[in-house]
Amino acid sequence: MTSYKKNLLFDAQTIAGRVQQLAKDIAASHPDDPLVFVGILKGSFMFMADLVRAMDRPCEIDFARISSYGSETVSSGKLDVIMDVGISLKGRAVIIVDDIVDTGLTLSEYRKHLQVQCPASVATVALIDKTGRREKEVDVDYYGFRIEGGFVVGYGLDCDENYRNLPAIYVLEED
Ligand code: PRP
Repeated sequence: MTSYKKNLLFDAQTIAGRVQQLAKDIAASHPDDPLVFVGILKGSFMFMADLVRAMDRPCEIDFARISSYGSETVSSGKLDVIMDVGISLKGRAVIIVDDIVDTGLTLSEYRKHLQVQCPASVATVALIDKTGRREKEVDVDYYGFRIEGGFVVGYGLDCDENYRNLPAIYVLEED
């Protein structure tokens, strides 16, 4: 079994600062809209919780579960919506929340998928915009941190379901 060493990338305080700023930026660009936040599970759960707590106004919250990788670590190019949002999005201002954009498949395809419901607007926010393996062009309207590469875990992000609970973000390195 591979063992990993984890190197700190963003500590909890740094993440908290960025999340507060993202909430302010999102609020400022949607001054009048009641917002619907749609988190993509599982990775977004911690970011979503902190982001919506930082919003200084009422908002609605829902989640979707999407599989894009199956059991592989390489994108299959297909999107499988396992659990979709339940709130009606017609005419609403929607913010899709994800922990990380990597190939771009999940966010670009799910954004398209939601358009069928005729929302008034759809914006995307990702805590981490990882640019080095982008395959699908996608507008990441708001991002917390931009990185080129690295296997990042913590604050919702996993490696074989481990590390999601960590309050900081680390880069895994083979030991
Ligand atoms: C991860 C992450 C994003 C997606 C990004 O989810 O949470 O949703 O991959 O990758 P992409 O830009 O290449 O599509 P994953 O499918 O690993 O599931 P998880 O959120 O349950 O960990």
